[in-house]
Amino acid sequence: MQSKEDLRDKKIRELYSLLEKAYQGGGQNRIDEQHSKGKLTARERIEVLLDKGTFRELDAFAHHHSSQFGLDKHIYLGDGVVTGYGTINNRKVFVYSQDFTVLGGSLASEHGRKICKIMDIAMKIGCPIIGLNDSGGARVQEGVISLGAYADIFLRNTLASGVIPQISVIMGPCAGGAVYSPAITDFIIMVKKTSYMFVTGPKVVKTVTHEDFTSEELGGAEVHATKSGVAHFTAENDIEALEIVIKLLSYLPSNNAEDPPFVPTSDPYDRVDESLNYIVPENPNHPYDMRDIIYKIADNGEFLEIHKDWAENIIVGFIRLGGRSIGVVANQPAVLAGVLDINSSRKAGRFVRFCDCFNIPLLVLVDVPGFMPGADQEWGGIITNGAKLLYAFCEATVPKVTVITRKAYGGAYDVMNSKHIRGDFNFAWPTAELAVMGAKGAVEIIFKKEIEKAEDKEKRQQELIDEFNERFANPYISASYGYIDEVIEPKFTRQRLIDAFNLLENKIDTNPRKKHGNIPL
Ligand code: HXC
Repeated sequence: MQSKEDLRDKKIRELYSLLEKAYQGGGQNRIDEQHSKGKLTARERIEVLLDKGTFRELDAFAHHHSSQFGLDKHIYLGDGVVTGYGTINNRKVFVYSQDFTVLGGSLASEHGRKICKIMDIAMKIGCPIIGLNDSGGARVQEGVISLGAYADIFLRNTLASGVIPQISVIMGPCAGGAVYSPAITDFIIMVKKTSYMFVTGPKVVKTVTHEDFTSEELGGAEVHATKSGVAHFTAENDIEALEIVIKLLSYLPSNNAEDPPFVPTSDPYDRVDESLNYIVPENPNHPYDMRDIIYKIADNGEFLEIHKDWAENIIVGFIRLGGRSIGVVANQPAVLAGVLDINSSRKAGRFVRFCDCFNIPLLVLVDVPGFMPGADQEWGGIITNGAKLLYAFCEATVPKVTVITRKAYGGAYDVMNSKHIRGDFNFAWPTAELAVMGAKGAVEIIFKKEIEKAEDKEKRQQELIDEFNERFANPYISASYGYIDEVIEPKFTRQRLIDAFNLLENKIDTNPRKKHGNIPL
């Protein structure tokens, strides 16, 4: 007969043997296959993402209970997803990591329930949730149950939106309706060459539209980072993708009731940068890179740019100013003269709303000649899409500070966080030009008859343009109406911004009570 002590030992050994089985996922061969594709396993990814030794796994022994299509012969502990919690830079996070070695990481009842369980706890505690996606999508054998499991996740993604940050990393296939969970989350990071996202894959596309594409061409990281704007970041490999998550989280609060983390800096608050005085070219039609201004004013010159390769005529991302997280929205005169078009409005509009959800103050750098003219833009809905950005700025109640470096023309002046739509501090550099439109267009409209009558039409037109510029291409008329609070010397911009955001630290502003607004989607 066994002693009580032996029995207890046996039970403890059984626990570890079951855990070992769960850790093996789909087995060594499939793990080797995963590695041979240049991918880490689900557990290795979690190890890279979280602070060392902090991961606590939940539901390691969950498995499906289906016998459809022989599934009872393929029972794996964990059911193809590793879920749990841990810390990143000592801050609590929840994470799920799909295990492609188990039934292709496919999602069905238990797999989905596990994800929902951690989403529910993350919401109650107020912690970010990070999803590491590597899955063949709905588990075909479990049929409609898989669809239901996805819908359960979509609902939670939606309810969590604006409450806790949600980050999706795409590290393998992500097809069918499965793409909609990442799409609802706040940020998508895709790994180059090993990940793809599409609603219908190349085979279906070929059948329906007769277009011939590879998975990479249809929905690879590069496509989504440059053409569709679905991906906010791309990474060379799994490790780089996870490092982006860590960096991104450092700018974000854990939930919408908290402020973003303050990161003390040794970069002097009153650092003066003489070169800022000379950054705007003398010729108003010459481009310059707005990123240079961002780097020069930010703490330690650090800027985490989002959507870097999509809609490049506007720049969005995070910096710190005097230790505070700040969301930057900046026109980019180096691309399409910084004009606002459909994609740039969508890109910036979503970013503004993200920052407003999570108490991240906004810095808006303006050099914009207006909205993009053209039939493509009109037919593509520049009206509705431009209104998204306008709506987002109007609605945002976080501290909002604007610096106009050069052009602020037409409707785009109003849109880019003007005083009228609750800009808290609106600064201008002496090079700023606030006008309904550029001098040439303006002169052609208001002096049309006079130019026609002139003997030397070209000469007269140029005279009028010069006169118009002399009178209107400056910030002082706007300043005389209080539309600009202060005209500042560019080299002092960093200090003035830190002062402004410090002053606005406890700003309170509210919108009327409502269920939710009706943003022009
Ligand atoms: C069940 C799946 C699966 C799935 C993959 N597997 N996807 N099992 N349901 N959806 C299994 C494979 O049968 C295989 O098992 C193992 O995972 C590895 O898959 P491979 O095909 O060998 O790998 P690979 O060549 O790398 O190809 C990966 C893949 C391919 C491109 C993802 O497996 C594939 O096309 N899967 C189907 C994708 C899909 O159409 N999913 C449904 C999308 S619709 P064995 O044992 O043979 O090795 C959808 C609806 C969601 O998701 C709706 C939400 C609203």
